[in-house]
Amino acid sequence: MNIFKLTNVSTAFFLLLCSNANAQFYNLSTPGTSLVIEAPQNGEAKLIYYGTKLSENELNEIKSSGFNSFSAYPVYGMNCQSETALAVKHYDGNMSLQMEVINVEKTNNEDYVQTTLTLKDKIYPLYVNINYKAYNKVDMIETWSEITNKEKGTVTLNQFSSGYMPIRRGNVWLSSLYGSWANEGRLCQEELTPGMKIIKNKDGVRNSHTAHAEVMFSLDGKPQENNGRTIGAALCYGGNYKLRIDTDDSEYHHFFAGINEENSAYNLKKNETFTTPVLAFTYSEEGLSGASRNFHKWGREYKLANGNKERKILLNSWEGVYFDINQQGMEQMINDISSMGGELFVMDDGWFGNKYQRNTDNSSLGDWTVDKKKLPQGIEGLIKASKKNNIDFGIWIEPEMTNTKSELYEKHPEWIIKSPKREATTGRGGTQLVLDMGNPEVQDFVYEIVDKLMTENPEIDYIKWDANMGIINHGSNYLTNDNQSHLYIEYHRGFEKVCQRIRNKYPELTIQACASGGGRANYGYLPYFDEFWVSDNTDALQRIYMQWGTSYFFPAIAMASHISATPNHQTFRTIPLKYRIDVAMSGRLGMEIQPKNMTQEEKELCRKAISEYKTIRPIVQFGDIYRLKSPYDKDGVASLMYVSPEKDKAVFYWWKTETFVNQHLPVITMKGLNPEKRYMVKELNRIDNEPLVFEGKTFTGKFLMSKGLEIPYTHKVDYHKLNDYASRVLYIEEVK
Ligand code: GLA
Repeated sequence: MNIFKLTNVSTAFFLLLCSNANAQFYNLSTPGTSLVIEAPQNGEAKLIYYGTKLSENELNEIKSSGFNSFSAYPVYGMNCQSETALAVKHYDGNMSLQMEVINVEKTNNEDYVQTTLTLKDKIYPLYVNINYKAYNKVDMIETWSEITNKEKGTVTLNQFSSGYMPIRRGNVWLSSLYGSWANEGRLCQEELTPGMKIIKNKDGVRNSHTAHAEVMFSLDGKPQENNGRTIGAALCYGGNYKLRIDTDDSEYHHFFAGINEENSAYNLKKNETFTTPVLAFTYSEEGLSGASRNFHKWGREYKLANGNKERKILLNSWEGVYFDINQQGMEQMINDISSMGGELFVMDDGWFGNKYQRNTDNSSLGDWTVDKKKLPQGIEGLIKASKKNNIDFGIWIEPEMTNTKSELYEKHPEWIIKSPKREATTGRGGTQLVLDMGNPEVQDFVYEIVDKLMTENPEIDYIKWDANMGIINHGSNYLTNDNQSHLYIEYHRGFEKVCQRIRNKYPELTIQACASGGGRANYGYLPYFDEFWVSDNTDALQRIYMQWGTSYFFPAIAMASHISATPNHQTFRTIPLKYRIDVAMSGRLGMEIQPKNMTQEEKELCRKAISEYKTIRPIVQFGDIYRLKSPYDKDGVASLMYVSPEKDKAVFYWWKTETFVNQHLPVITMKGLNPEKRYMVKELNRIDNEPLVFEGKTFTGKFLMSKGLEIPYTHKVDYHKLNDYASRVLYIEEVK
């Protein structure tokens, strides 16, 4: 391979020699980054550069510096040894592709410039549009492809990635998220070594419990939070995905991301176009946190439903009462959250079912009528109680599912996903089944669950949309025998259609994506959802690790984070309320507890925290994240902060993650402040008998960022209140 290495453009992470002096170059740019593409008429489309923004001069240097070798969208057939983005079988059985540029089109929009390269196979009328959307207010470039079949018959798509990116070798590290139920969003950081790294999902319904479809590449060795060139990538898709990083014998790592093609070969009919999900890229020279800030800005502005609207502080009934729903109990909780200053109450599972009462997880999904024995006044009664308490009301549903013990299943056994000729495999409760979302009748049914709830109770403010089962057995009663391999893809097409209909009619409704906890943290869902439940695990200490990882890609406004009971219901760990509050306050604050069991003192602490959260809410929910000290470093402390875009306000979090007598913890220096400005420091959620030495004092941004504050390792509280936890939340405000 003829690769010329350019060393004087230090910021470029890949730069290849170009073969055609007259080639057409396209510089797709965002405020701080450039992606340069070479697209010669009747030649191959190639990626030349992705990195820091190039001036016209630098672009010229690149143009005159050499020849490009990597295709913008590698295809299978004429270079069989390499990994590819697209592999097909033509209508006549031919397995090869050779694509040439036939057109390039640019369209300007207020927020972005979209460049579309149209490629055509040299022999066959198979067309691929490669789209790039470069945002002009945030450093994000989205890419996706559209594959159109104009051949005489069906073309089989065997591989159909959303996009590709070559990354120059040289101590490149990968950060990715892995986990499992109740342990989602764990951070894994590893050096890329020869061979193939695959990150994938096959759940069928949800896709972020065990691994995430987002990654970061640190180009300057071991990942650093606030330094170093970093590329971030997020596949925006709710279904099965596959990310591949091939470190072959070339000078590059080859990154591909798209729908997981396993058992999903797609039969593209004549004249049909297949559109892949979006793959979004960002680049930052401010380390992982810099890339996160780009994801968060883009996420809030362009992806997340209602990303610019503050989220309410809520109480969810689940861990407080589980299935034990009744009018009196709900009213008590409504009362309690309202008296603590909360703004919303959400009734979780257990409120529905007529013929079969939902008292445990083995029945009634699909029977979305109020259980009048539990709630004689219906949802209306609860909305009334909420209004009386000046708060809003929300409700839990799990619309994509049913149970064998349900009226729905009795009526529509053909609506479930099941292997033909075989018994259905059941999930939760031994009876749960997934509805076939590819079936338009099922889509209508699911849409109507929400529409009926909202039409009958227009004051419902919030819906928690759950999904507690994946696709276990393969088979659709709706799809033809030929198209059974479309099951996963059609499920998500159907799901999106329903979501679009709901959003068109109810744009303001807050909807949480829950899926046995954090199974739906992906930008493919977020255009329809305002937030997601990070995990069913509400243990504050474990949440620090999970929320740390999740924050790599998702803003705090989307991360539901609740104060729960102690001992914790998942880990059985006993953590003091102060610490539980201080962790929950770093995301979208809520409560998941039975207030009836709290002492007056505990309620008072929560009341204070809720009131203080209201002050810092705009900074947490709309500010810039700076992760300062990772819990994964195992240095005994974790710390991060959010800074307002004007840099006049910030919130600093410090959580001790382990306790040893006379241990030595690092001093945390802050980031993201204006060095020239003076800031006053005020502790929130204070429990100590005396204020901190720096309470109410002012410091320059420079001081806070270079020297930092000495945070005491323990709390000064009465002897009987001492425990092994310590945490601080500091509010930092500019003094003029
Ligand atoms: C899932 C969710 C929980 C709760 C239960 C209700 O497990 O993740 O938060 O809503 O379902 O059954």
